[in-house]
Amino acid sequence: MGGGRRGGLPAHRLHPWPRRFPPGGGPDGGHPGRRPGASPGSGGWGMSSAVEAARTEEARQGGPPLPPLVLAGCGTVGGALLGLIREGRGSDDLVRSILVRDPARERPEPLPDPDGGRVVTRPSELPVEGGRVVVEALGGIRPALGLARRTLAGGGTFITANKSLVAEHGTELEALAAKSGGRLAFEAAVGGGMPVVRLLRDLPDAARVRRIEGILNGTSNYLLDELHAGRSWSEALQSARALGYAEADPSRDVDGRDAADKIRLLAWVAFGVPPAHVRVTRRGILPDPEALVAEARALGGVVRLLARVDPPDGAGICRARVEPCLVPRDSPWADVRGADNRARVSTARAGTLSVSGPGAGGQATALSLLTDLGDEALRRAGGSGGLARPVFPVRTIVAPDPDSSRAEGHPAERWHLSLEGKIPGHPEIEVRPRLERILARADIRLVDVDRDSGRLRTVLETRHAPRVDLVGERLRALALEPRLLRLAER
Ligand SMILES: NC(=O)c1ccc[n+]([C@@H]2O[C@H](COP(=O)([O-])OP(=O)(O)OC[C@H]3O[C@@H](n4cnc5c(N)ncnc54)[C@H](OP(=O)(O)O)[C@@H]3O)[C@@H](O)[C@H]2O)c1
Repeated sequence: MGGGRRGGLPAHRLHPWPRRFPPGGGPDGGHPGRRPGASPGSGGWGMSSAVEAARTEEARQGGPPLPPLVLAGCGTVGGALLGLIREGRGSDDLVRSILVRDPARERPEPLPDPDGGRVVTRPSELPVEGGRVVVEALGGIRPALGLARRTLAGGGTFITANKSLVAEHGTELEALAAKSGGRLAFEAAVGGGMPVVRLLRDLPDAARVRRIEGILNGTSNYLLDELHAGRSWSEALQSARALGYAEADPSRDVDGRDAADKIRLLAWVAFGVPPAHVRVTRRGILPDPEALVAEARALGGVVRLLARVDPPDGAGICRARVEPCLVPRDSPWADVRGADNRARVSTARAGTLSVSGPGAGGQATALSLLTDLGDEALRRAGGSGGLARPVFPVRTIVAPDPDSSRAEGHPAERWHLSLEGKIPGHPEIEVRPRLERILARADIRLVDVDRDSGRLRTVLETRHAPRVDLVGERLRALALEPRLLRLAER
């Protein structure tokens, strides 16, 4: 991306604050302020003369200072943000109040002095009213939703890493923000450290986004990678948990709900379609991920869980899909390893744009929160220096573009479908004639058929993806367990 005002990464992304001390640390030789209270005057509500001087220095150098903030949640992501703030500023004075469940819990980034009054445990105690900047890294709907409502109703800025919250309640929250002059920002909610929200937000409508595709769930990508490397599902899960990539219950990751939330958010930013109105068809890597990987191996490819969304069609309906796909071994999708993410934005006028990066992880996600905080600093600086620009423009719904409607605008696609050769429980009944009838009724072309050691391997072609889903349902009704992999483009 170029370095212009639109599309370029603002300078504050990499260096949010000029360093107050030369590399090598503060006056005592260590890094200033890593521990709370390490530098005089850094832990309280008042601003020390050192901090004042730093702000003056920042202002002199042209970058607006980050605003004071309230931090809801100080776990993996919130803790990493606190660490980055301490590292960048030399103190955590900017963080006025922190909400956690258990202040006594040991954590990699220690909380500020518990006697300083800045750490609270009840959401109602968190001072979010009065136009504050609130960074939410709690997760889940409650109490995050209540905090978001209070913040935005009071004209404040709510910066969140919480995709479920925005996917479920984004429209309501955005309406609150529009009414009160507040602001909702969620760069960190999609793709962790991969700046895909920013990429879409900064693209002018005139670029005409035709499709957004992505590997948006790092957990399932890691698990698939492990299976391709020859591990069993239980070994892969165990190592994903040990590395912090999978929670105790990873069902939202492996059944595609997490990726579905994220693709809804991208549709909102790109097309202005409220997340709740995006129709997502979802198939995760379950019920048998090992079989999917074996299938892909036999075909010389790799399985990836791809999400995609197209602009609203002629009837104004915005459709998205999340499904396991077969990608060539040498494709950029196969190159996305471990818990990384990748997104590809196809446009009519700006070619194809791609971003990739760590899809999760405390530091990477905290950097995205910091990016939104940097925007807030620019916004608060107003017109001074001409840096401020509109933030998260909620687009009016992009007018349906006849050329981009899915059936006509994209070439026919292919699916690999493999299934048992005989109807289960009826070894005398061949599946093939049944399959052919189902496909004929759905007007799906059968491009290739191969009978291999009792299984039927086929390639189907259609421009109408939902028909393939219907075929899958009909086959399951016959007690068959079809393995379906969309053959993705490179
Ligand atoms: N982890 C990632 O790699 C990643 C990546 C992208 C987005 N996200 C999103 O970031 C958000 C935070 O994730 P995380 O991994 O940082 O979670 P986490 O490690 O579990 O941290 C959650 C924090 O919120 C606090 N908390 C939770 N419920 C609370 C309640 N009812 N009252 C008070 N405090 C409460 C916890 O307090 P205690 O510390 O006392 O337990 C903890 O500090 C989630 O929305 C997640 O989807 C995470």
